[in-house]
Amino acid sequence: MALFPRFSSSAAMNVMLALFFLLLTRSSAAQLSENFYSNKCPKVFNAVKSVVHSAIAKEPRIGASLLRLHFHDCFVNGCDGSILLDDTSSFRGEKTAPPNNNSVRGFEVIDAIKSKVEETCPGVVSCADIVAIAARDSIAILGGPYWNVKVGRRDSKTASFSDASSGVIPPPFSTLSNLISRFQAQGLSVKDMVALSGAHTIGKARCASYRDRIYNDTNIDKLFAKSRQRNCPRKSSGTPKDNNVAVLDFKTPTHFDNSYYKNLINKKGLLHSDQQLFNGGSTDSLVRTYSSNEKTFNSDFVTAMIKMGNIKPLTGSNGQIRKHCRRAN
Ligand code: HEM
Ligand SMILES: *[C@@H]1O[C@H](CO)[C@@H](O)[C@H](O)[C@H]1NC(C)=O
Ligand SMILES: *[C@@H]1O[C@H](CO)[C@@H](O)[C@H](O)[C@H]1NC(C)=O
Repeated sequence: MALFPRFSSSAAMNVMLALFFLLLTRSSAAQLSENFYSNKCPKVFNAVKSVVHSAIAKEPRIGASLLRLHFHDCFVNGCDGSILLDDTSSFRGEKTAPPNNNSVRGFEVIDAIKSKVEETCPGVVSCADIVAIAARDSIAILGGPYWNVKVGRRDSKTASFSDASSGVIPPPFSTLSNLISRFQAQGLSVKDMVALSGAHTIGKARCASYRDRIYNDTNIDKLFAKSRQRNCPRKSSGTPKDNNVAVLDFKTPTHFDNSYYKNLINKKGLLHSDQQLFNGGSTDSLVRTYSSNEKTFNSDFVTAMIKMGNIKPLTGSNGQIRKHCRRAN
C-alpha cells in the first residue's frame, strides 16, 4: 500500500514530462507559419514567384537546382541558409563540400530574388525562407503540387565545410539502409524518404555520380545502361567528362510527375541510390504505390516537404536576417 502513492506520483511525473516534451517539440515547429510575412512583407511571395518563373523560362533545369538547394540547406544544421554563404577567412563553408562541389547551382537566382525582395521590404525576409519558397514555386511551375509554404526561418551567421562533408547528405552510392538512417536522423520517416526521392523526377546528375551504377550494377536495364555509357566513359576521373550530365528522369525530365517511380520499376533509375528504393527491399511497395497513384505521391511529397522545411529552423532572436545571402551581416 505504501508503494501506491509513490507509484502514482511518478506516473503523474511521467505524464507531466511527456506533456513538457510535447510542448517543446510542438512550439519549435509551430514557430514557422504560413502568415509570418502577412504584415511585414506581403509581396514576398509574388516577388519570389516572378523571379523563379523567368529563371525557369530561361532554363527549366534551374527549378530542379533550386529544389536541391533547399534539401542540402536543410540537411546540414537545419534550414538556415547556410549553404548560400561563401567561404570567408574565418570559416570554410558548405559550397565546396563533396555533396555540393561542382554540383549545387541556383545561387544567382537566389541573389536576384533577394535583391528584389530587399527593394520592397529591406531586412525582413530571410535567405532560408527565400530558398524554401523558391523550391515550392519551382515544383508548382514544373507541373507538380502546390502548397502553402511555412516561413519565419532566420539565417545562420556561419557555415561548416566539415558538417556538410560528414555524410548527413547521403551519397549516390548509398545502400537502402543508409538512406533510411540518414533521413531518420533528420526526423524523416521511410515514407518521407521515398516520397522526397521523387524530386529526382526533374534535374540532372553528373557522370561522376552514376558511373559506377551504369558500369557495375546488375539491377539496371541493359539498354538503358548502354545508352548512358555513351556520354559517361568508364575511365575519365579527373577529366571534364566527370561533369557530363544526364537527366535523372529520362521520360519527362522537366516535368514534376511520378514517372521517377515508373522508371525504378523498369530498372531505369539513374543513381545507384535511386534503384535501392526498388530492389527487392522494404520500400518496393511504396514505389509501386507512387508509380500507379500520382495523387498519393503528390500528397505524401507535400507532407514530407513541409517536414523537411521544418528541420531545426533558427527562430526568435537566433541567427539574423542577412542583407546579402552570400555573407553574414
Ligand atoms: C535520397 C537520397 C538522395 C541522394 C542520394 C541524392 C543524390 C543526388 C545526386 C548525386 C544528384 C546529382 C548531383 C550531381 O551529380 O551533380 C542529385 C540531384 C538532384 N537531387 Fe538528389 N539525392 C537525394 C535526395 C534528394 C531530395 C530529398 C531532394 C529534394 C527534395 C533531391 C533533389 C534533387 C534534384 C532536384 C536534383 C537535380 C539538381 C539539378 O539538376 O541541378 N534529392 N541528387
Ligand atoms: C572542388 O572542385 C574543384 C574543381 O574541380 C577542385 O579543384 C577542388 O579540389 C574541389 N574541392 C574539394 C574540396 O573537393
Ligand atoms: C567497378 O568495379 C570494379 C571492380 O570492383 C572497380 O575496379 C571499378 O572501379 C568499378 N567502377 C567502374 C566505373 O568500372
